[in-house]
Amino acid sequence: MRSSALEELRPDAGSLIVVLTGAGISKESGLDTFRDADGIWSKVRIEDVATYEAFVRDPRRVHAFYNERRRGLLGANIRPNAAHLALARLEREWPGEVLVVTQNIDDLHERAGTTKLIHMHGELLKAECEHCRSILVWREDMSRDMRCDVCGRAAGLRPHVVWFGEMPLEMDRIGEALDRCGLFVSIGTSGNVYPAAGFVSETRARGTPSVELNLEPSEGASSFSHAIRGRASEIVPAFVDDLLKR
Ligand code: APR
Repeated sequence: MRSSALEELRPDAGSLIVVLTGAGISKESGLDTFRDADGIWSKVRIEDVATYEAFVRDPRRVHAFYNERRRGLLGANIRPNAAHLALARLEREWPGEVLVVTQNIDDLHERAGTTKLIHMHGELLKAECEHCRSILVWREDMSRDMRCDVCGRAAGLRPHVVWFGEMPLEMDRIGEALDRCGLFVSIGTSGNVYPAAGFVSETRARGTPSVELNLEPSEGASSFSHAIRGRASEIVPAFVDDLLKR
């Protein structure tokens, strides 16, 4: 693995760039990561709030966890940082395509202006009805007794998030993009959760260059061809500047 050596990363101007993002990109916007020392999983257990079994066992607790996170995300002080803005600029100015695949359930990429975006782990500001499978925009607290606006039935609403043990969203579209991209970029993810953690191996098997932008080496760091270490709000804008200059 090389440190920087960015001049070697010269995807063809018309090629697709796939960017995977994780909680680290939103940290400087004021949202907690999961596995850092002060992260979400140091305060609550995955088995209590982030599995379907937990939801069936204690929906009130699971709703309370996501209600608190939703209120936090909608707080006046939470906004996209320079890294989110740089990725939106990359989408606007790169002569080829850019697809952002995020594990994050926040909406900071959208607020920054990214439009080609897949939320593979769902979205905190949406609800899903277990009765009719409708997906509803949802910015309020949610509780088990609420009714679905579409089918009218009660006790079926859940956060539109992918829990441990559930299948991430849009995997076919992601796989197709990984197959044909000219550069794979990973930002702010610890590489602990599959299938996202395996994307770099898929691109590596095809000989596609890849770069990890993260505070520290992720679990899969040795699979990337290049690495840039630092805070996302600093290294992502510089990286995007550099790509656009070529
Ligand atoms: N800039 C860059 N990287 C950062 C920053 C920062 N300011 N702050 C933290 N990081 C890095 C950490 O070093 C860590 O490697 O971001 C990474 C965050 O890792 P996790 O907390 O594990 O988050 P993530 O990889 O997105 O988690 C994946 O796990 O619990 C699930 O569904 C949840 O989508 C989430 C998935």
